Amino acid sequence: MIREQSHYENLEKELIAAAETQDRYDLETINLIAPASPTPRKYIDIPLQHADIAEGLLEHRPYAGAEGFNQIESIAAKTACELFDADHANVQPHAVSPANQAVYQAFLENGDRVLAMKFEDGGHLTHGHGKNFSGRYFDFDFYGVGKDGLLDYDAIDQKAAEFKPKMIVCGASSYPRIINFERLAQSAKKVGAYLMADLSHPAGLIVGGRFPKPFPHCDAVTLTLDKTMLGPHGGIILTKNEYKEKIDKAVHPGVQSSIPLRRIYEMAQCLIDSGKPWFQDFTGRIIQNIKVFEQVFSKYPNLMVTGGSDTHLMVLDTLNTFGLTGKDAEATLEGIGILTNRQVIPGETQKPYVASGIRLGSTWITARGFDEKDTQKVAETVLKNLENPNNPVLQSDSKKEMLELTKISRKDDVWHGQA
Ligand SMILES: Cc1ncc(COP(=O)(O)O)c(C=O)c1O
Repeated sequence: MIREQSHYENLEKELIAAAETQDRYDLETINLIAPASPTPRKYIDIPLQHADIAEGLLEHRPYAGAEGFNQIESIAAKTACELFDADHANVQPHAVSPANQAVYQAFLENGDRVLAMKFEDGGHLTHGHGKNFSGRYFDFDFYGVGKDGLLDYDAIDQKAAEFKPKMIVCGASSYPRIINFERLAQSAKKVGAYLMADLSHPAGLIVGGRFPKPFPHCDAVTLTLDKTMLGPHGGIILTKNEYKEKIDKAVHPGVQSSIPLRRIYEMAQCLIDSGKPWFQDFTGRIIQNIKVFEQVFSKYPNLMVTGGSDTHLMVLDTLNTFGLTGKDAEATLEGIGILTNRQVIPGETQKPYVASGIRLGSTWITARGFDEKDTQKVAETVLKNLENPNNPVLQSDSKKEMLELTKISRKDDVWHGQA
């Protein structure tokens, strides 16, 4: 039912007010959510003012007027290949979930066996979770981490030998350590399996030289630019020359139809920016800041899953250390203006919506200009409040201190000035 004009005018006012409230909230909170990164103004005010959607693969559009589309998409694809040492890049997937779907579709038939990392140990929904398309259409089995929380490559090798998968999937949402692609490629090779890596999280660290490069060990790699790359949301598939046609066809017409040209332009801009020298320094600062958390949290030997982090993220076992579920720990920190997310941990005993831990990351604060001294204050405040979740005086003081600290992050585009 269409209503009168005033109804829609009121809805529009509500919409704008909600967005303004969210904007203010973003500036007045400290975002430690591991995938979070601020959107640079450069990617909002782009020169492509009249952009449309494009359909079809690069250089194979089913209509006229696509020359500009081809040029923009080919700069994005070429730059992605350069940065990650890949032969071929498809930058069309709307997100990493459809990128993963396309890779499975390219290499597998329904019902084929796939070996991936267990969800509680760090894997993602699209790596075979029973409620996700991946777990419903393919026969997944899982490897996990050892008692120390680290990937046990011998155990993976053995599991692969027994299960004989057609593909091994690596890469994770909440594994804070580097991944040995060479070791996994050896396990895959022994059983004739493809090796796919979902590197959504560490993509920027790879470009910055702080995480191992997936090629030549992997057959296909998926990633996004919106986490450690500081860019727009979207998916990229990288592959070797021999698989490029399979991958392209799996993306279109296999999974998707048209793509927004603005997003492809933003991706190209982000890829170009991350190839510049400042980005190496920036990723170094991400790691420096996570090391500050590591040092503060080392007061409790079992608080950090795996004992620490090599990357931009870490996982805290709050239930066994402080008797706080992940949900409660998340709410405690949210109450003082620090955002994190509840996180399932290895050996999880709670439902995923409650969880035993939280995950936190250093990308957002680093991009917003927090140095080691600022990060130290944040880390100490997180710890004090997890130790004392029912202390209103502490909470009120912490909230004021954190609000004061957000003044650093209100300078627009701290990082972007450097690109
Ligand atoms: C490892 C991993 N894969 C896939 C995804 C899904 O990405 P998207 O939300 O872009 O579909 C995520 C996102 O959170 C992720 O961490």
